[in-house]
Amino acid sequence: MNYRSIFIASALFVSGLSSASQPAASDARQHIRFDDNWRFQLDPKPTIGGTMVSNWQWVAAPSVTNLDTPTIPDDLQSSSWRTARIGRDVFRNHPGFAWFKADLGRNLPAPQGARRILSFESVDDNCEVFVNGKMLVKHYVWNDPFDVDLGSVWQEGGPNSVVLLVENTGGGGGIMGSVTIRAATKADEVPPVARENFDDSSWRVVHVPHDYLLESPFTSTADASHGSLTQNPAWYRKSFTIPKSYAGKSLWLEFDGVYRNSILWLNGHKLGSYTSGYIGFRHDIAPFVHYGGVNELAVHVDPRQAEGWWYEGAGIYRHVWLNVADPVHVTPNGTYVVSDIRADQAALSIQTDVTNQSGTAQTCWVVSSIVAPNGKKVATVKSPLQLDANRTNVLSQTATVTSPQLWSVEQPQLYHLVTSVFQGGKPIDHTETTFGLRTIKFDAKLGFFLNGKPLKFQGTCNHQDFIGVGTGMPDGLLEWRIKKLKEMGSNAYRCSHNPPAKELLDACDKLGMVVMDENRHLGNATGGKTPSGTSTGDFPELREMIQRDRNHPSIVIWSMCNEEPLQGTTEGGRIFAGMMKEVHKWDTTRPCSCAMNGSWGEGISLVEDLQGGNYDPSGYDGFHAKFPDKPFFGSETASAVSTRGEYVNDRAKGYVSAYDVNAPPWAQPAQVAWKAIADRPYVEGGFVWTGFDYKGEPTPYGWPCINSHFGIMDMCGFPKDSYYYYKAWWGDKPSIHVYPHWNWPGKEGQPINVWVQSNCDEVELVLNGQSLGVKPVPPHEHVEWMVNYQPGMLVAKGYKNHKMLVSDEVDTTGAPTAIILKTDRTRLSADAEDVTMVEVRVVDAKGRVVPYASNQIRFTVSGAGSLGGVGNGDPSCHEPDQADTRSAFHGLCMALVRAGNSPGKIRLEAEGAGLKGAALTFESGRATNH
Ligand code: GAL
Repeated sequence: MNYRSIFIASALFVSGLSSASQPAASDARQHIRFDDNWRFQLDPKPTIGGTMVSNWQWVAAPSVTNLDTPTIPDDLQSSSWRTARIGRDVFRNHPGFAWFKADLGRNLPAPQGARRILSFESVDDNCEVFVNGKMLVKHYVWNDPFDVDLGSVWQEGGPNSVVLLVENTGGGGGIMGSVTIRAATKADEVPPVARENFDDSSWRVVHVPHDYLLESPFTSTADASHGSLTQNPAWYRKSFTIPKSYAGKSLWLEFDGVYRNSILWLNGHKLGSYTSGYIGFRHDIAPFVHYGGVNELAVHVDPRQAEGWWYEGAGIYRHVWLNVADPVHVTPNGTYVVSDIRADQAALSIQTDVTNQSGTAQTCWVVSSIVAPNGKKVATVKSPLQLDANRTNVLSQTATVTSPQLWSVEQPQLYHLVTSVFQGGKPIDHTETTFGLRTIKFDAKLGFFLNGKPLKFQGTCNHQDFIGVGTGMPDGLLEWRIKKLKEMGSNAYRCSHNPPAKELLDACDKLGMVVMDENRHLGNATGGKTPSGTSTGDFPELREMIQRDRNHPSIVIWSMCNEEPLQGTTEGGRIFAGMMKEVHKWDTTRPCSCAMNGSWGEGISLVEDLQGGNYDPSGYDGFHAKFPDKPFFGSETASAVSTRGEYVNDRAKGYVSAYDVNAPPWAQPAQVAWKAIADRPYVEGGFVWTGFDYKGEPTPYGWPCINSHFGIMDMCGFPKDSYYYYKAWWGDKPSIHVYPHWNWPGKEGQPINVWVQSNCDEVELVLNGQSLGVKPVPPHEHVEWMVNYQPGMLVAKGYKNHKMLVSDEVDTTGAPTAIILKTDRTRLSADAEDVTMVEVRVVDAKGRVVPYASNQIRFTVSGAGSLGGVGNGDPSCHEPDQADTRSAFHGLCMALVRAGNSPGKIRLEAEGAGLKGAALTFESGRATNH
């Protein structure tokens, strides 16, 4: 059968099930979207309960240097203890150690089988917990709630006391959240909300991917780095039926990403928990399912402990899947294709992991077929496989593809591996894996080569949020952003600082964008930066990332971490080496690297395959001279800051000028950063911080600014002026852009700084028909003039070999009169997730965007969809993302139109006081190719 027809059939099947959220009986493997009909509610009572432990006292511990203190010093009791208030920074912003103590009381009745539990909401940063003199727990990471089981240490009738040794690694520190003590049986530990009979009918119904953090109002007291939004825990619940016929099958739930600290219960049984918000996890549900009945799934999420220093969202923000398979099935992420491409032939090694959950030894046949980009089957291999009971066995096969069609950024050709498992001649399992054929080489002197051709990374780093949806990014939006970056001339994407959604990698495969895929933590840390002493025993998140992502042809670098305090140390190198070993268990075809903002040549540098350097272009040549055989690339570059449409810095408003002149002390303007890379053949390329603005991390000014300014494009994907610098020097077509706008009433006769970004040889500037001269454009630079303002038209003309090839102009516009709506896609998939981005322009009578327009635009969506969110790119705008109105910022704002579950027409209307309104019609139908 033709591959394409298989794919379309299964896609329809799954989405049909998804809308009903009720799986149907079938013999084939089912991978069912579980995104619909979740009930959602903020958790009004974050702590499970118990008695507050108060009356804390503290004393500094100047002689302590690490957290390896097994006992409490004898003379501690006689120290001069002082009262400690919860939430108070006893360290006064200095690193160091301090002792804390409190009385736990004499009586805490505990019913039969109950445990006594001491719960800490937040100890900043790390601590050792002693109860009645015994060290029970060593806990790392500030603001990570944790429990201490008091076990047999508790003394009936007392006295009972707790002592903490707290380490502050930086900033403020101390006991920053409540401490409670309780006695609880196992049953008590199932919160009422997680029980089967809980009535959630009054809760809101939401569709995942879902990020609820962006619904909270902006406040100056919330953490600015996370977007000045208050982080609260929340509950999700979902009811679903499982047919009787599924008894005996393997059933597992797969969560692609939940931010974070998730705990799951099914029918009142705790399935487990997962800490990190950045990689997916699975739970086997077969033992707890009601076959032929209703099942109740409850998920608690708690985003309060940060994993990074940017907006991280909150909730079930990626897809959820229910998997139904025969007990003998291809293991999740269990296929791996490696190719050796020589002359006109690609030799494939195919590895397939098959899991046997049947309880007895089995045999099966594995049939692996290779489907070429044109949909034709080009190779098939069949092999028998012996399966041990309740084990995973690995099969290796080989196949040959002649005349391979290589994956490249220009022609991203994709192959598919179709895996079928047979028993007794009957197909029992089936999976499909996308892969590509291509070669990569990192040359320390000549740079990166894709398929033998040089390709300098013209890359951007990006976080994973967008207006209107936060981190709950629909697949189509992930793809849209990659398209935007490609249109600018970008060919490389760094997933900073965490593994992305799978669908982002699919988009990079499909559109042709090379990727640096990044693990969140160095070692097994769980917070922002990895502290010394972090365990290195196992790397489950890294393993999941490599197993999940290793077939994507777009990925060319595995990045282990970013800017870690341990990066230049022997310990950092040791952890990194352990991580590389883990990577090589699962993939040996790509180099390991990371992003270092110092200590180049030390610690991790001595271990990794490639040196990634954040910023400091003045250090490139020194590193290369010292390590001429180590390939080098700019893992983070520029970090220039600019606000679209602003041309002066304004601290009060939180804006920075869009001329390419502003960068924080560690950073460089775009031109300085890219020139340093472009001029050096040995530099493999660079990744600009960032392609798009993102929520949080406002720089250089804080409140009222609530967004980053680092983007080449703003929060809506609207280009800032520096976009055209990159378009000129990364693109392959003549390009030109003149700025600022030309509306400066009151400044007549006064000089205005005019910049032109162009890759032409020469640029001429013409004001109202009069030439202001021609200037040569130095490679990788811009040209500028001081022009005495007079209203009218300012034109920049770009010449190559004295021939005008391109021009751009800014006009003095009239007042706003109308709205224009623009979109690149009017067909949506009726899957309750798909969105299309609509650019809203406020224009004058001649249809020109009015650069000062800030009109309030009101949106109405009718028909088979809804308004998915709004934004305007203003980094200091406190209007909500989820609303039916938005002000324009420098003449532009954006509305997301979201498809519903049923096909039909969707109409968007936009209106504003004194403006001629506009409308667009969309068609929402069965799955479309975006
Ligand atoms: C880097 C860091 C990024 C971001 C950036 C801002 O040092 O890796 O996450 O904070 O600075 O310039």
